[in-house]
Amino acid sequence: METLNVGLIGCGNVVSYGHRPALTSLPDVRLVALADVTEARRRIGQEWFELANADLYADYREVLARPDVQAVVVTVPQQFRREIILAAIAAGKHILSEKPIAYAPAQAAEMLATAEARGLTFGMVHNYHFFPEYRKIKELIDSGAIGDLRVLTMHYLGVIDYPGAADYKPDWRHTLAAGGGVLTDMIHGVYLAEWLFGAPAEQVMAFVDAPTYQQRQPVVEDLALLHVAFPGGYAAIHMGWGQGVGGVDASGSAGHLRMRYNQYQTSGFNQPIELYSVRDWQRSDHALENKATHMETIGWSFTQIWADFRDAIRERRPTIAPGQAGQRALELTLGAYLSGATGQVVRLPLPADHPVYQKGILGMADVAAWPESRTQAAGIFGLR
Ligand SMILES: NC(=O)c1ccc[n+]([C@@H]2O[C@H](COP(=O)([O-])OP(=O)(O)OC[C@H]3O[C@@H](n4cnc5c(N)ncnc54)[C@H](O)[C@@H]3O)[C@@H](O)[C@H]2O)c1
Repeated sequence: METLNVGLIGCGNVVSYGHRPALTSLPDVRLVALADVTEARRRIGQEWFELANADLYADYREVLARPDVQAVVVTVPQQFRREIILAAIAAGKHILSEKPIAYAPAQAAEMLATAEARGLTFGMVHNYHFFPEYRKIKELIDSGAIGDLRVLTMHYLGVIDYPGAADYKPDWRHTLAAGGGVLTDMIHGVYLAEWLFGAPAEQVMAFVDAPTYQQRQPVVEDLALLHVAFPGGYAAIHMGWGQGVGGVDASGSAGHLRMRYNQYQTSGFNQPIELYSVRDWQRSDHALENKATHMETIGWSFTQIWADFRDAIRERRPTIAPGQAGQRALELTLGAYLSGATGQVVRLPLPADHPVYQKGILGMADVAAWPESRTQAAGIFGLR
């Protein structure tokens, strides 16, 4: 098979534990050029990928100008995604985009329409699709082990608030430029819910607050509690930076399943899966053996994303998470923020003329706020 030559734009933390193992292990995917605005990160990337000086660039446009680059992975913070991806599409490159896809749904729609018009593949790094525990949950639900999925409860209350790369802007996740806080950062829970139900969300209601950052004025949320309506049932998604419980429960018409990491942690970064049981109404239990730790599987999940992206380009088919899935996850996330500010159930997809569809969280300031909104009381998203 012909090797896929790729360029990388943004060489921060997600590259170190995610894209690096993928791009150094797949024999027919080769990183040939790298751009980062900081010299220190370019040098780190040079060492990881054994690149020549001539393959390192401060300006991403030089990566796009290289005829040998067939696809790019865009791993910069989301506020920069639109400009870079539109330029990459204009240069005829296939796109693998980190999550979230963009700052605002309107930007996502623009990028997707442009890529489609050029016949280019647009895939998302929705890598949790390849975590063994989620694959198993999906397989069990799809096989009918618990009947029809009715209620899905997903706890991620102990998300670790990791800073960005020290050589860049470690605090960028706590600025309006990030487009949102913990829910935006852990949008994995959002797209997984859609995947497990097998259909797009129709409605969302949420409380969105910043109760734990009392030492400084918060800019984005650190707690988001969502109820989401899908055609077949409901998901409760509980997302928080700090300390708290993790794990997934799925209740169906004929049984239920649950997954817990050791000590009920949110993601088992260093912990194995402790409990993984499925019980149908005939009371047959399927306990599953302990799995590898998250850190061992996270690199593998990115490798699978890359292998799928490579094959999708070759086979001219969508990836496991095409750009449209990225746009829907972004709209559900922003819909939750809107619900927190207005106290109303938000219907999805958002209307294309809605200020939040157009401007992301910056559009929140144009929305008629609910006086008792905790989102507004927290003073986040520029709401006062
Ligand atoms: N899929 C996942 O599990 C996962 C995990 C972590 C982060 N991410 C996503 O990856 C993105 C980056 O996150 P991170 O944790 O690596 O952040 P980071 O701050 O560690 O790295 C960002 C990098 O982008 C570079 N950069 C910024 N602007 C640039 C530009 N215009 N051109 C080239 N380089 C530029 C910075 O110098 C820095 O090296 C975010 O969108 C984040 O949501 C995804």
